[in-house]
Parts: sequence; structure tokens; C-alpha cells
Amino acid sequence: MTIDARPTTVAHSRLDPEAMPRRDFLGLAAWWSAAAALLFGFLGAMRLPKAAVLPSPSKKFKVSLPASLASGQAYIPGGRAVAVYKEGNQVYALSTICTHLGCIVKATDNGFDCPCHGSKFAKDGSVLKGPAPKGLPWLEVKHAGGDNFLIDEGKTVAMGTSVNV
Ligand code: FES
Repeated sequence: MTIDARPTTVAHSRLDPEAMPRRDFLGLAAWWSAAAALLFGFLGAMRLPKAAVLPSPSKKFKVSLPASLASGQAYIPGGRAVAVYKEGNQVYALSTICTHLGCIVKATDNGFDCPCHGSKFAKDGSVLKGPAPKGLPWLEVKHAGGDNFLIDEGKTVAMGTSVNV
């Protein structure tokens, strides 16, 4: 009796598919890996924190000057880098953003002091002591009736520009 060593053809069924060549298997594995990398990358991007930047509030805002505001005393509306003065029947507003590096200056009896590098400004915003290179900008003010004023932080006006009450 002799044994035939030649390979015999085997009929494959759906339950017993033909063996996949190694090259095809590696090609499929590469595609599946790429698809999985894209999927997990997308899922990871979805889990990133949402942007914490909020739209900035409008540069224009309304302010009501308190009746108790003394002449020459700065009124600083909450949350705004602006100082509003009422002197006699004139009202004007200055930015309180230091012209050196942008710190918020503090109002004092004589004007403004910058807490960052020591600049000093007069009540009219002019520089008394550096390193600030220029004075505090004056801002546009419009009378909105009574003690109400409309201030535009985005619009500077010439020093000395005020509105009559
Ligand atoms: S930021 Fe005001 S002095 Fe530097």
C-alpha cells in the first residue's frame, strides 16, 4: 500500500472558509487599525473640554451715577475698566487700563496708581510718573437722561471731551 503525498483539493464551506493568505490578512489588519485609530481619535476629540472663552460683553454700557457722587470723585462701574467723573455739570470717562502693560489702575484721591509697575496718572489721565508711555484714554460719553450715561469703552475721544448734564 502506498501513501499519496500530493495535496488533495478540499471543498470549503461557509463554516470552514479557505485560509486567508498572510499578505491579505496583514492588509486587512492595517485597514482595521487605521479605522480604529480614526474612531478613537474622533471620540477623544469629542471628550476635549469645551472652550472656556465667553463672548465679551458689549463695549457700550449704561451707567447711572449715584446722587451721592461728589464732584471730582471717580465712580467705577462694577466689572468695567472705566472711571466716570462728574465735575460741576460736566461728565467724562477715562479708561482705567494702564498704557504701560495693561494692568487696571486704582483710583486715588489724586488720580490713579498702577499697582504693577508704579505709574501714576492725574485725574485727567495724564502721566505723572512712568513707565506708562502715555495718558489714560478718554472715552465717549453720551447723556441718556437724568443721571444716566452711555459709555463706549471702544471709542476714545480727545482729552477734555465731556458731556453737559
Ligand atoms: S502696567 Fe501699569 S505701570 Fe506697568
